[in-house]
Amino acid sequence: MTATVEPAIAVSALVKRYPTGTVALDDIDFTAGAGEFVSVVGPSGCGKTTLLRILAGLEGPTAGLVQIAARNATSALPAATVFQEESLFPWMRVDENVAIAFDGLAVSACDARRRSAAQLELVGLTAFSRAFPHELSGGMKQRVAVARAFAVDAPVLLMDEPFGALDEQTRVALAADLMALWSRAGNTVVFVTHSIEEAVTLGDRVVVLSKSPGRVLETIEVGIPRPRDAIKIRSLPRFVELTQRVWDLLR
Ligand SMILES: Nc1ncnc2c1ncn2[C@@H]1O[C@H](COP(=O)(O)OP(=O)(O)OP(=O)(O)O)[C@@H](O)[C@H]1O
Ligand SMILES: [Mg+2]
Repeated sequence: MTATVEPAIAVSALVKRYPTGTVALDDIDFTAGAGEFVSVVGPSGCGKTTLLRILAGLEGPTAGLVQIAARNATSALPAATVFQEESLFPWMRVDENVAIAFDGLAVSACDARRRSAAQLELVGLTAFSRAFPHELSGGMKQRVAVARAFAVDAPVLLMDEPFGALDEQTRVALAADLMALWSRAGNTVVFVTHSIEEAVTLGDRVVVLSKSPGRVLETIEVGIPRPRDAIKIRSLPRFVELTQRVWDLLR
């Protein structure tokens, strides 16, 4: 999917200094077009989570501008999030963990159940709807978190290393699932990762951040056609060239 003229997210001259004095982000500029998948990659501590928390409105910027497209007619929320840590409620069953996304929104309980069930089917977890999180593998739990994020049909999806704690094979499988869900939903995604391969596999563009304090080193256009095969893509000359380019930037 390609970016349209109207950016869904526009960040300019963003600075974040925590009360402790730590400058987490220093003069960040980037945009994401409607329906665009933007990967953000950078070393540990460079401010990736801070950036997502600011985009999610959980944290205020110290300076600069952050604009997120307003909610549209069909969506429930301007932005949905999947964070780094495990985010399921252990005392709720899988279907309840997805349906909780509709809490506080103008969606009937019946509709919330129906939409949650549909999302669980898309991530292949219908058989586990009534299971508790402790009965699932790590990959399955993250699939539930992804299903919950897509369930509310938000125009912007913010993901902070959702697959960071998973093994390589599970990561690749979930990346493929995510691409399928995103191409169906057509929302704007900001996907934070420290995996260069994951950033290039998934993104339309890759924003490369420097080590702390985070600055944009470069924004790279991926230009690999979709649909992409998460395994086969690795042998494409363009993929090898791009991952090498990011490695060089981060060195
Ligand atoms: N609430 C906070 N108060 C003070 N400093 C913070 C706070 N949250 C993060 N920081 C600092 O801001 C910097 C960026 O942290 P952040 O969590 O955004 O990095 P990150 O890129 O997500 O790292 P990782 O890849 O390890 O998740 C770090 O130096 C961190 O110590
Ligand atoms: Mg982080």
